[in-house]
Amino acid sequence: MEKFYIETYGCQMNEADSEYMASVLLSVGYQASQSLEDADIILVNTCSIREKAESKVLSFLGRAYPYKKRNNAILGVCGCVARKEGENLIKKAPYLDMVFGPHHIGRLPDFINVVRRDNRKVVEVSDKSEIERDSSIVVPNGLRAMVPIMQGCNNFCSFCIVPFVRGREVSRSSDDIIAEIKHLVAKGVKEVMLLGQNVNSYGNDLGIKNGFLSLLEKVNEIEGLERIRFTTSHPKDLTDELISAFGRLDKLCPHIHLPVQSGSDKILALMNRRYDSATYLKLIEKLRNMCPEIAITTDIIVGFPGEEESDFQATMKLVERVEYDGAFSFKYSARPKTKAASMSNQVPEDVKQRRLEELQALQKEITYKKNRALEGKVLPVLVENINRRNSKEFSGRTPCFRIVNFSNSSPVQDLIGKTVNVKISRGLKNSLKGEAV
Ligand code: 5AD
Ligand code: SF4
Repeated sequence: MEKFYIETYGCQMNEADSEYMASVLLSVGYQASQSLEDADIILVNTCSIREKAESKVLSFLGRAYPYKKRNNAILGVCGCVARKEGENLIKKAPYLDMVFGPHHIGRLPDFINVVRRDNRKVVEVSDKSEIERDSSIVVPNGLRAMVPIMQGCNNFCSFCIVPFVRGREVSRSSDDIIAEIKHLVAKGVKEVMLLGQNVNSYGNDLGIKNGFLSLLEKVNEIEGLERIRFTTSHPKDLTDELISAFGRLDKLCPHIHLPVQSGSDKILALMNRRYDSATYLKLIEKLRNMCPEIAITTDIIVGFPGEEESDFQATMKLVERVEYDGAFSFKYSARPKTKAASMSNQVPEDVKQRRLEELQALQKEITYKKNRALEGKVLPVLVENINRRNSKEFSGRTPCFRIVNFSNSSPVQDLIGKTVNVKISRGLKNSLKGEAV
């Protein structure tokens, strides 16, 4: 039986695509392998959001090449770099066999046949206005499943390459999504993460009004499903109706990822984000009024072209004010085709680095403080695993998505998949510790 190995870089959408690639290959009889060494098919799912992510592709190919040669394995590149570079990738790495875009994952078995049988290379990176996905073959990878509800983005934030590589917004039909979630629940899934570059505009391309809210309402009705999460939301499209879902839908977890990108109105305008800091802060206030315990996380870019010290300080102030539960922060990286890449006043690398470190230090302090504030509280934890670092402990997540490692004084029993009340004894920098009650 032939074995496949998949390496994944980038966002949750890529993780979901990799899971689907695995499902497609499993459905036609291939077997998963945990290492490159014994794989007959080696796939790398790539990200092009920042230059650094993109450079990982070639270094991975360099690492994979000896195994490809030794085992006569098929080597393929998928994901955003495949879409962006297409044929060019074969010029850079002539030993590559397949380059294909995320829209064509379902055809992977055919591509493999073409390579093996016809001894030809495959390049298929064309755009598509439909998401082809056979829900019935999806194999979940644990209790939490990622379910893509749409592809692409129409927003053209001036720094972002996504609209160029992932194309325009295409929503899956809600019937398809619901069928997939029911299938996953039957296979033991308890929690779904609905994925899209901008879930708030789900259904716009299908001519449905308030599509995302009605999708959430339908998902909330699925029997056996316990938790619903979604990501990512664009602040400009976060409506009052959607905010009210946090107070109304019992399975919707109190967590929202709401990328702010910058606290400076000048920079937000240059970024083409279409909101200002006051509007954003108003959304935070509404979310917290609706659901006081809601966890809010964000993305921030430092060193966008034209970002002066005062703009950066505005970001620091906003972060202090919002007190995010977590933040992903990045140094601006100029990407081809984007508007920002040709803006004047690019910020020097050392300034970006210093700002990134300052921002990350601030957020680290806030996260730690928030984690400590939970000491003594009892929280419902959906148990996912045995703690990798301590086999006597279990590990799971709170509704707010915090990781909790906890001990269980009662006789060892299989808690995985159950929701357990855990009393938090310590708030650490990146997780919580506790004991089952
Ligand atoms: N440079 C740095 N960060 C970027 N992001 C998107 N494009 C860039 C870029 N060119 C960040 C944004 C986005 C997250 C997924 O990646 O913060 O929300
Ligand atoms: Fe990129 Fe903006 Fe679309 Fe997000 S909303 S994928 S940052 S263009």
